[in-house]
Amino acid sequence: MIPQEIILAKRNGGVLGAPEIREFIQALSDGRLSEGQIAAFAMAIWFNGMNRDETVALTLAMRDSGDVMAWPDLDRPVADKHSTGGVGDNVSLMLAPIVAACGAAVPMISGRGLGHTGGTLDKLESIPGYDIFPSAERFRDIVGDIGCAIIGQTGEIAPADKRLYAIRDVTATVDSVPLITASILSKKLAAGLQSLTMDIKVGNGAFMQTMEEAEVLARSIVDVANGAGVKTTALITDMNQPLADCAGNAVEVAHAMVFLEGRKAGTRLHEVVMAFAADMLVNAGLAPSLAEAHAKAAHALDSGAALERFGRMVHALGGPSDFAENWKTHLPVAPIVRPVPAPESGVISAYATRETGLAVIALGGGRTHPDDTIDHRTGFSAILPKGTRVERGDPIAFVHATDEASAERGTWHYLSAVTIGEKAPAVSSVILDRIS
Ligand code: URA
Repeated sequence: MIPQEIILAKRNGGVLGAPEIREFIQALSDGRLSEGQIAAFAMAIWFNGMNRDETVALTLAMRDSGDVMAWPDLDRPVADKHSTGGVGDNVSLMLAPIVAACGAAVPMISGRGLGHTGGTLDKLESIPGYDIFPSAERFRDIVGDIGCAIIGQTGEIAPADKRLYAIRDVTATVDSVPLITASILSKKLAAGLQSLTMDIKVGNGAFMQTMEEAEVLARSIVDVANGAGVKTTALITDMNQPLADCAGNAVEVAHAMVFLEGRKAGTRLHEVVMAFAADMLVNAGLAPSLAEAHAKAAHALDSGAALERFGRMVHALGGPSDFAENWKTHLPVAPIVRPVPAPESGVISAYATRETGLAVIALGGGRTHPDDTIDHRTGFSAILPKGTRVERGDPIAFVHATDEASAERGTWHYLSAVTIGEKAPAVSSVILDRIS
C-alpha cells in the first residue's frame, strides 16, 4: 500500500474500496503512518465525504483494529448510549447506572473531550483513584457484577479510532459525518452491544449545526449500526445552551451526584436523561413501551438504586468506597470560585455554546494538544438557563479557576458567549426528533 496514493484518491474526490480503507487503517494502528498522513486523510474525508459503503468499510476496519468483545455469560441485554458531544453534557454519568439498575448491562466505552466538547472520561478522572483503563477482565467482571462500567478505550478496543480521534481533535476534522459515524460505531461494535441509543446533538454547541445535518448524521449512524446487527435508534437533542447547569469536569461530576440524589427533577437535563433511559430500555427489550420504560427508570432514580450503582461502579474502578455518600469531600475544588456578574439587566436570550466550551478549555479544563494534562477543578457552575430574567450584577454563573488571572479571563470569555436581551427567547423543546 502507498498511503499517499490513498490520500490523493480521496483528496481528488474518489471513492475508496474496502481493501484500501482496511489497509490504510491497519497501517494507521500499527504506527506505520505519520500524524501528517493521518491528518491529511481525515481532512480529505472532511472535504469530500464518504458514501455508505466506504463508511461501513471504515467502521468495520476500525472495529477490527483491536479486540471485539462478546458477552456470552451475561443473562442481561447489553445496551449503551453515545453522544456526539456537547457542552455540559454529563448524561452518561447518570444514564449508565439508571439503566443498569433497570436490568441492562452497560459496558460504556467513552471518550475524552473532543474539540470544544467535554469528555466523559475527563470528567470521571476528577474522581480520585478512578481507573479509566482497567484490564479487559476487570471491565467484564464489573459489568457482570454491577451492571455498568464507564471506561476509556484501552489499546485493545478500536485502537485505530484512538489514534485518529486524537489527531482529529487538533486538526479541525471532527465534524464530518463518515468520521463521526466510524469513530462512534467502531468503539460501540467492539464493545459487543446488542442495542444502542444515539444522542445526536444539534445547535451552536454541537458538531452538527442544523437539523438537516443532524438528521443526516443520525440516519448514517442508525443505518450503519442496524446493518451491523445492533438495534439502534437516535434522538436529536438541542445544544443551543449548556445542557447541565455547569460545564467542566469535577463540576459536572458533582452535578451528576446531585442529579442521582434526585435533586434535578424538572430540568432540561432530567428530561433528556429520562428520555434516553426509556429508549434504551425499550431497545433492550426490558420494557414494552416508552411510557412503561420511563416509569421504570424513574423508579430506579427515585429509589436511590441508580445512585447506589454509581457508587459501586466508582469503587470497583478504584475510587473511594463512600463516593455515593461523601462525594463532596472527594471531588477536587478550584482555588478560585467566584460569581460571573450580569453585565446588564434583562433576559438571558442566547448562548454561543461553543464559546462556553472553549472557555472551559481556556481555563485548563480541556486540551489544545493531545498530550496536554488538564485541570479537572476548573469550569463554570450555576449556569442560568435561557429565558432567566437577571438584574445587572446578579451572578449568572460561577467561574472555577486556578488563579485570579485565569478567573478574570474566564469571566470575560464566558460573558462573550452570553446574550442578555429585552425579550425572553421562544421556548424550544430539548428532544427534537427520534430516528429509528
Ligand atoms: N464521539 C466520538 O466518539 N467520536 C466522534 O467523532 C465524535 C463524538
